[in-house]
Amino acid sequence: MTNPRQFDCLVIGSGIAGLFYALRMAEHAEVAILTKKQAADSATNWAQGGIAAVMSTDDTLEDHVADTLRVGCGLCREDVVKSVVERGPKLIEALLKYGVHFDPGDTKTSAFDLGREGGHSKRRILHWRDATGAEIERALLSQAAAHPRITILEGFCAVDLVTSRKAGLPGPNRVVGLYALDTENGQVERFASRVVLMATGGAGKVYLYTTNPDIASGDGMAMAYRAGATLANMEFFQFHPTCLFHPTATRFLISEAVRGEGGRLMSQSGERFMARHHEMEELAPRDVVARAIDDELKRSGDESVLLDISHREAAFVRERFPNIYERCLSFGIDITREPIPVVPAAHYCCGGVRTDSRGETDVANLFAAGEVACTGLHGANRLASNSLLEGIAFADSAARESTARLRETPLPPESLPPWEEGTATESEEAVVVAQNWDEIRRFMWNYVGIVRSDKRLERARRRIELLNEEITEYYWNFHITPDLVELRNLATVAGLVIEAASMRKESRGLHYTLDHPERDDVHFARDTLLRRT
Ligand code: FAD
Ligand code: SIN
Repeated sequence: MTNPRQFDCLVIGSGIAGLFYALRMAEHAEVAILTKKQAADSATNWAQGGIAAVMSTDDTLEDHVADTLRVGCGLCREDVVKSVVERGPKLIEALLKYGVHFDPGDTKTSAFDLGREGGHSKRRILHWRDATGAEIERALLSQAAAHPRITILEGFCAVDLVTSRKAGLPGPNRVVGLYALDTENGQVERFASRVVLMATGGAGKVYLYTTNPDIASGDGMAMAYRAGATLANMEFFQFHPTCLFHPTATRFLISEAVRGEGGRLMSQSGERFMARHHEMEELAPRDVVARAIDDELKRSGDESVLLDISHREAAFVRERFPNIYERCLSFGIDITREPIPVVPAAHYCCGGVRTDSRGETDVANLFAAGEVACTGLHGANRLASNSLLEGIAFADSAARESTARLRETPLPPESLPPWEEGTATESEEAVVVAQNWDEIRRFMWNYVGIVRSDKRLERARRRIELLNEEITEYYWNFHITPDLVELRNLATVAGLVIEAASMRKESRGLHYTLDHPERDDVHFARDTLLRRT
């Protein structure tokens, strides 16, 4: 067995959080970024609407704080919200320095063209047309790739963290490295490191219909849970109201910015229904719009509702939303002339690995930033376009704290425990993986979706228990593959979402249950915490 590779600092994931942190850390340390596919394969690369920050004289920090708290339905950490919002403008400057472009605006009130999205009382979304994430990913990735102290390892799928406890080292539990599967040769390699940032993104693939890319299988949440970290608020899964509905289109988002520019939601019979659900109509918080559409679909029996922006000038629509225009056109829908059929789909996990205000988890030296983390910013529902901001805010905080840790933490020993392969034999049963994967995603959609009930959650719990048993047995009997790693993580995350949802006997933000339809501040104005016993 070869010695582990050693780095001061390991970053798992190459989306906005991982890249921003790596660039900060490389000022002081040797950094390796592991990423399971190609470096740009990330939710960041797919982000459309933009990034929220107070960048206009028409807006105030207090308004952004108030909007975030209101949408978060009583569960945001106010100190975190204030800190992130106040640092917003400086963090945007940092992005600009790394070479990110945003659409310029009318200089009287702002140097940027600011979009509006659900739950925001002001225009405050910086964007690059409707492909903001691709622009951010491009700029950060090109900086990281050119940096002499950053090594980017593509095709390395992190499998499990190594903690001091597992390595038999004295002292409180801390992270000392990780096992990662080299997807090219199928071998598991060991990496030793003094600090690790988990930046693996979200878990949208746990649901049958999602806006997320394939990488979003909740790996970081499951790995951190297995390593002893606490996970918080996993029941708060955000469903985006408007995903394109088309037989051959999977997972294409129609940005909320379309509604911000006047897009109207209508039933198939042409009724504008949002006024019946909320005074902010199309720009109500996302949980309200998603539930309203779900309600319309159930009442009408239709397969989709319509989103119409065709009353705006065609040239404006093409210029403001070139990506959405082109993609819809490729499916035969000209959005300058006709409405777009849309449905809700799983979009964003507000819960995740709980961190403190420095981005550290309760496993020492293990940091988390981006969608994998639960920092206290979003509470029970995320304000649109706050997640890219959160990603850089916590990457920045984690980098500051990690730098201090590097001074006081010795290099971990070369003798990390070997990877235990058990009695592995070559797997010939890929069909088992595919079947379990499909089953989980389907019952999560049907039983743990936008509207829940005690009975549905109980059904889901029984199924996930059986599947988890089967998957664990399978996992230790066969050589691992990326699919099997993801399936195990997906099953763990599904179990955590079900458990957290079953514990919350009230309705709040993104968690709505028919059996407890009211908010209950007496018993449930708190986070749902899950830790492996
Ligand atoms: P990601 O960008 O998802 O990156 C995760 C990285 O981790 C990837 O490189 C992945 O390959 C890697 N990884 C995962 N597991 C492993 C493993 N086991 N081993 C190694 N590597 C691993 N938010 C906004 O604020 N504004 C928007 O406009 C917006 N639009 C969105 C549109 C879409 C279609 C989607 C899906 C999301 C959108 N979001 C938006 C949400 C936002 O994009 C994400 O929350 C954010 O980009 C997450 O960044 P991240 O760095 O945490 O993770
Ligand atoms: C969108 O463009 O609608 C996505 C914004 C977000 O998820 O914050």
